[in-house]
Amino acid sequence: MDNPQDLDIGIVGLGVMGENLALNLAGKGFAVGGFDLEAHKRESFTARTVGKPARAARSLAELVAGLRAPRKLLLMVPAGAAVDAVIADLRPLLAAGDVVIDGGNTRFTDTQRRITELADTGILYVGAGVSGGEEGALRGPAIMPGGDAKAWPLIQPMLQAIAARADDGKPCCDWVGPGASGHYVKMVHNGIEYADMQTICEAYWLMNQLLGMPAAEMADVFSQWNEGELSSYLVGITADILRYTDTRSGEPLVDRILDTAEQKGTGKWASQAALDLGVTAPTIADAVFARTVSAVKDERVAASTVLAGAETKVFKGDRTAFVEKIRRALLAAKVCAYAQGFQLLRAADREYQWDLPFDTIASLWRAGCIIRARLLEDIRKAWGRQPDLANLLVDEHFARLMAECQEDLREVVATAAMHGVAVPAFMSALAYYDAYRSPRLPANLLQAQRDYFGAHTYQRIDCAGKFHTKWN
Ligand code: 6PG
Repeated sequence: MDNPQDLDIGIVGLGVMGENLALNLAGKGFAVGGFDLEAHKRESFTARTVGKPARAARSLAELVAGLRAPRKLLLMVPAGAAVDAVIADLRPLLAAGDVVIDGGNTRFTDTQRRITELADTGILYVGAGVSGGEEGALRGPAIMPGGDAKAWPLIQPMLQAIAARADDGKPCCDWVGPGASGHYVKMVHNGIEYADMQTICEAYWLMNQLLGMPAAEMADVFSQWNEGELSSYLVGITADILRYTDTRSGEPLVDRILDTAEQKGTGKWASQAALDLGVTAPTIADAVFARTVSAVKDERVAASTVLAGAETKVFKGDRTAFVEKIRRALLAAKVCAYAQGFQLLRAADREYQWDLPFDTIASLWRAGCIIRARLLEDIRKAWGRQPDLANLLVDEHFARLMAECQEDLREVVATAAMHGVAVPAFMSALAYYDAYRSPRLPANLLQAQRDYFGAHTYQRIDCAGKFHTKWN
């Protein structure tokens, strides 16, 4: 590996994700160079890649000098200023036709800006969403690349070789579209991830609060659910988590974890993007708010001594039947969250004219990524059947599924409300479903109010035009 220009790809940033992606690439026979500003990460990389086609470079210039032309670089540095700093350092070292891939959780607007800034350099810039965490990076992530399409044939063999494979053998990596579409798709993935996680937490909370089920019993329930329609990575890890005993206390570890959630911002970005484009995505937003309210632990503890709750506290119904209703409510809420995520993609597709392949996006979320789930094969089929589908909910398969589960979602939400258990994602999923299937909503009154105080005008149902009324 001492020959110059023998490297297939250079990875900048040898943190957990960068190092494991490098090992994955090297394991597939690609010659990988790695660089990190921190010497101990370069040393760890060298130690972990002994006997593999990989080497650490001591500088960015050395890394670039070792790459075959056209040079391909994968940036795995923290999103934000670090990406700009690396690009600034790389610019004088690269030539037209070289490829720079940002594989971080970058906000799509930053990717858009960088594409514009690099436009006159001829550098082929790619924003690639990478999902699957440490394990995924090493064994096969889902990868969502988008940007300059001229880069795709140059990076396709490498990215598809290291990506996870779905049950039909297809790699969970495909070209998503131009511009910042790759990072947008990853942002929506994360919005759905937030909703998925929150709805699972609510299912757990209902079993815990209303049925008093211990963690081990709930672990069995989630394991069972993981065998059926709800089969997914997140349901599977939930079963593992609930079964895990804390060595310090001898109790389930989950019961010893402080109930304040943190976040790095991608769910918030997805919610903000939904508001920007006028897309209804309440379950994704409520999953973010569920984290923010959890974070004000001290206020909640104080408020719990001041604010009244529900009178009914004990669940008196059929417990086994209720667990099954929670399962079906979870399925329905999950479908609503996916529907919202795809509505966001549809709106972005129109706004930015990306021509997004919705079936391909569902296809590459089937394995490797955090939201991988059996359901995604049905979602892929739905978009394949009808690429111009107005909403996933009205696809024949999902309309039927919702018809079968919606009563359970209602009952679970109503029971939670009557017992004072907060299930915001379940509630917003139901409200989304009911609003979307309503031919009429009270927005007639809302328009009248706007016209009353601001002369904002309204339209009539019986003749065309804009109207204003002097209301008093
Ligand atoms: C993935 C994840 C990952 C994300 C973490 C943490 O697809 O592998 O989405 O990219 O960063 O899950 O996200 P939060 O800290 O916001 O929960």
